[in-house]
Amino acid sequence: MLAKNIFILTGAGVSAESGLSTFRDKGGIWSQYRLEEVASIQGYERNPSFVLDFYNMRRNTHGGIEPNAAHVALAQLEEAWSARGGSVTLCTQNVDNLHERGGSKRVLHMHGEIAKARCHDCGALAPYDGDLSVNLGCAACGRTGGMRPHVVWFGETPLLMDEIYEALSAADLFVSIGTSGNVYPAAGFVAAARAAGMPTMEINLEASENAHLFDMGRYGKASEQVPAWVTEMVALAD
Ligand code: APR
Ligand code: ZN
Repeated sequence: MLAKNIFILTGAGVSAESGLSTFRDKGGIWSQYRLEEVASIQGYERNPSFVLDFYNMRRNTHGGIEPNAAHVALAQLEEAWSARGGSVTLCTQNVDNLHERGGSKRVLHMHGEIAKARCHDCGALAPYDGDLSVNLGCAACGRTGGMRPHVVWFGETPLLMDEIYEALSAADLFVSIGTSGNVYPAAGFVAAARAAGMPTMEINLEASENAHLFDMGRYGKASEQVPAWVTEMVALAD
């Protein structure tokens, strides 16, 4: 029986071939920076400029990158499933906008989006792709010193969790793509999917920490494995 509602979780591995570093691979971001210093609320309060510079550097690496075949294939799957009365919910841990630029319409950014800035004081949120600094004033409340990237830090609650769990519980297929299965709550989604009785599949460069929890695994580059899987799914739906 072909799945009607597919829940897809993606991680940094889906954007790796577009040129963005992952976090825990060899040479990844957490081998160059201490996570506690640049991606935690404590790190931000201790040294806001250092944290803002880290995200300015990361945002600048996002310039000039393009979606890869995996992003495009996931958008094609969403279109094909919508056309047949089904759905694809794409929940991403990534803060880049490559899924949207690849054509996906419904993208849930549970760790936020690096091309948006949020005021720590009034919560105002707006697209912002310039460099952030402690001298930047908030366009909404006028205060300075509180503008931060709209990115969820360790110790903070991920975004859209109600919508995510609602979509996960309504799904009949769970697919995890390009994530090491290290960070919760995302790493716990496969267990929730299994508890709900749906089939689970992992697509990754190599077996993740959670590989044993998946019914199926397809290993190799996302830009090859994801289009191959989507082609099979669309053919089955025809
Ligand atoms: N194709 C498919 N998978 C790949 C590719 C590729 N080309 N390159 C790397 N991978 C896989 C790696 O094998 C690894 O399992 O992608 C995964 C990336 O894992 P991480 O670097 O841990 O990234 P991710 O799982 O997204 O991290 C989750 O941790 O630091 C936080 O907030 C950050 O959202 C991030 C979260
Ligand atoms: Zn403000």
